[in-house]
Amino acid sequence: MNFFLIGYMGSGKSTIGSKLAQVLDYNFIDFDDYIQFKEKKTITEIFQSKGEIYFRKIENIYLKELIEDTTNTIISLGGGTPCYGNNMELIKASKHAKSIYLKASIPVLTERLFNEKGKRPLIAHIDSKEEMVEFIGKHLFERTNYYNQSDATILTDNKSIEEITEKIILELF
Ligand code: S3P
Repeated sequence: MNFFLIGYMGSGKSTIGSKLAQVLDYNFIDFDDYIQFKEKKTITEIFQSKGEIYFRKIENIYLKELIEDTTNTIISLGGGTPCYGNNMELIKASKHAKSIYLKASIPVLTERLFNEKGKRPLIAHIDSKEEMVEFIGKHLFERTNYYNQSDATILTDNKSIEEITEKIILELF
């Protein structure tokens, strides 16, 4: 079985994914790192040199590769992965995959992302927290329909990494 962690940028997918893998003794793959390794470029470089459409195309190809080739793995997806092409359909169609939506509130995401926007090309240009709140609000609204198709949803605000990990395990096993 593979477990896909889904959620907006800054929702803790990588941190929780690596903790969950440690607790369950599963392999762990951060999908952005996987793409960077395969393309030999950072996500920012891919967006800058080839553009977002190219990024979405390879994201779909590498997702198929992971679904086919991995087992007993926790995979932390990119925030946009479930929202493009047939990606969410592929995850739902896999008999060996379950998906978990890590749901964080707009204020929590804003605080985190404002301090970490440099490595995220979609939000790197946002200069004020007010603009960030507005951007996240609209963007999350567009994406929620995809995130809500996950097998489980975990509310993460005010919870520690350990509490979130425990909740995921209780929900899935
Ligand atoms: C993206 C999220 C990023 C990365 C890329 C696009 C998005 O991943 O895949 O910058 O569309 O939300 P994280 O969610 O890990 O930041």
